[in-house]
Amino acid sequence: MTAAGLLETRDVSVSFGGFQAVDQVSLDIREGSITGLIGPNGAGKSTLFNAIVGEQACDSGTIRFNGRAIGDLPPNAVYDSGLARTFQIPRPFAAMSVFENLMLAAPNQPGERFWVPVIARRGIDARERQIAERAREILAFTTLDGVADEAAGRLSGGQQKLLELARVLMSTPKMIMLDEPAAGVNPTLTRVLIEKIEQLNSEGCTFLIIEHDMDLVMRHCHAIVAMSNGRIIYEGDAAGAQSNETLLNAYLGASVDA
Ligand SMILES: Nc1ncnc2c1ncn2[C@@H]1O[C@H](COP(=O)(O)OP(=O)(O)O)[C@@H](O)[C@H]1O
Ligand SMILES: [Mg+2]
Repeated sequence: MTAAGLLETRDVSVSFGGFQAVDQVSLDIREGSITGLIGPNGAGKSTLFNAIVGEQACDSGTIRFNGRAIGDLPPNAVYDSGLARTFQIPRPFAAMSVFENLMLAAPNQPGERFWVPVIARRGIDARERQIAERAREILAFTTLDGVADEAAGRLSGGQQKLLELARVLMSTPKMIMLDEPAAGVNPTLTRVLIEKIEQLNSEGCTFLIIEHDMDLVMRHCHAIVAMSNGRIIYEGDAAGAQSNETLLNAYLGASVDA
C-alpha cells in the first residue's frame, strides 16, 4: 500500500526507574524521506534515538532497519549497518584535529579488528589512503576543509554541528538521524547544513531530524512526527501539524517558562 518503511519501530518503550520516557512508540520512516521529529523538551525524542541505535536498552518493542531486526545490536553494529546518528551536544574528540576525527569515524573493517599477516599490510595501507581521501572529500563537502587541521574542540558550536554530520558521512550511511542540528547554529551555517541535507537526500539518503526550528521543519521535512510525554501525538504533513490542536496544546503546556 504505502512505500516500504526503511526504519520501523513497533511499540518501543523505555523507562528510567518508574518514569516512562518513551511509551509504545511505533514509527515508520519512509525510504528517501526527510522526516521531522518535533515535540517539547522532555518529550522523549533523544531517548527514542538512543533506543533505535542501541545506546539505550528498551523495555519492550521491536526495531527494524532496512529489512533487518536491529533491536539487539550494539551501537557500532547499527552504525556499520548504515544507520548513523548525531548527538544533540556534539561529541568530537576535542584534542584531535578535525581531519583525525573523520578518520576515526570510518566504519569497521576486518583488518582493524584482527591480527593481519604482513602480506595483507599493503591492502590496509591502500585502505587508509582511501579513507583519507574520503575524509578530504567530506571536509570539502561540509565546508570544513579550511579547519581540517584545527583541534575539533576549538571549532565554533555551528562548525561542531557540521563536524557531527561530516563524521557520520564517513560510513556512507543509508539513513542519518540528526538530533537538533540547527540548535545554537548561526543562520549562515544553518543554511549550509540544510543545503547539505537536501543534497544528500537527493542522492538517496533518508533523514530523521529532531529540530525545534519550525521554519526548517515545515519547509524541508516531507513528513512530521510529534511526540509529547513519550508518545506519538501527531503524524502527517507540515500543514496539518500547524493546525493540530493536540500538538499546539503540547507545546503551550510545555512552554510556560519559555
Ligand atoms: N538517562 C536518563 N535517566 C533518567 N531520565 C532520563 C534519562 N534520559 C532522559 N531522561 C528523561 O526522559 C525524558 C525524555 O528526555 P529526552 O529523551 O532527552 O527528551 P527530548 O529529547 O524530547 O527533549 C526527560 O524527562 C528526561 O529527563
Ligand atoms: Mg533531546
